[in-house]
Amino acid sequence: MNASVSRRRGDRRRRNRPKLADHVDRLGEEHPPIPLDSVDYTIHRPAELAGRFGSVLSYMSRVELEVERNVLELNILLPDPPEVDRHFYADVWLPQETHHGIILDRVQVLAGLEPAEPNLDDVSFKLKLLGALGRARGIQDVSRMLYYLTGLATERSAVLAYNKLHAGLLELGERAIAATVVAPIKRQEPGHFAYYQMAARELWAQLGGWQRWVVRTLRKRTFGPVGVDTDRQRVEFGKVMSALEMSTGDAADLRHYARQVGRVEHELLWAHRQGVRVPDYIFKALRRAAEAAAELKGDHRPAAGRSDL
Ligand SMILES: [Fe+2]
Ligand SMILES: [Fe+2]
Repeated sequence: MNASVSRRRGDRRRRNRPKLADHVDRLGEEHPPIPLDSVDYTIHRPAELAGRFGSVLSYMSRVELEVERNVLELNILLPDPPEVDRHFYADVWLPQETHHGIILDRVQVLAGLEPAEPNLDDVSFKLKLLGALGRARGIQDVSRMLYYLTGLATERSAVLAYNKLHAGLLELGERAIAATVVAPIKRQEPGHFAYYQMAARELWAQLGGWQRWVVRTLRKRTFGPVGVDTDRQRVEFGKVMSALEMSTGDAADLRHYARQVGRVEHELLWAHRQGVRVPDYIFKALRRAAEAAAELKGDHRPAAGRSDL
């Protein structure tokens, strides 16, 4: 890298960081964790709620609670994180998401379902390895880019899921849960998405050619929906997509969903390549989950709107 490119990148870093820091401060001020006593847990028909959205409550409460482990993973993955990242995930994101998880878990128990069993501390070997490699600055920037991209896909999925869940609860007549659980949760997710979007755009502009190549290659090889580490969890995620009618058995619906999840990632990593409309690995990962859920029912089409978790 020549000196003027390096200077330009340094200038950009200084220009954008305060914007990101302001965003994080604002998120912290405007969106404190949802007060646990603000929730009205009135459920009119628990069995119907469990039958229709049990898979969603179970999945979302687990992944929201697992942010506790995600922060442990981040401490390993990014041994030397920029202060704004640390401030975001430790002081703003973690407390917000933890309350989402606690509240959703209470809803599912009141609906007669088993409480969540989140994995709070078991960090995978793969991650520890990346963390060890991350002591080299150039690798840590790759890890950080992967973290932002994962965040983007995850938060976008959360926004879409909570929008659908909110509408579905109103349809069921569960107004209290819709208004005091899902509505306040879904107001907090777009701020997380915006954070990752700003951070990802800024960092991508600073990465060199080899780093971009590694990021593209690793995303292609390792993309998976959040919270899916085992076959069983893949089936659970398939049921969530089915209950929320994101996968209905029609590939066009699933592709539409994949496009929404992968929009920013596509724009950053792949848009320069003509003819690639959505990262295909995202569509394929979602389709694998939809198929796994359908096969378990002995049916090759996921049954929309049902859940038997
Ligand atoms: Fe959340
Ligand atoms: Fe979030």
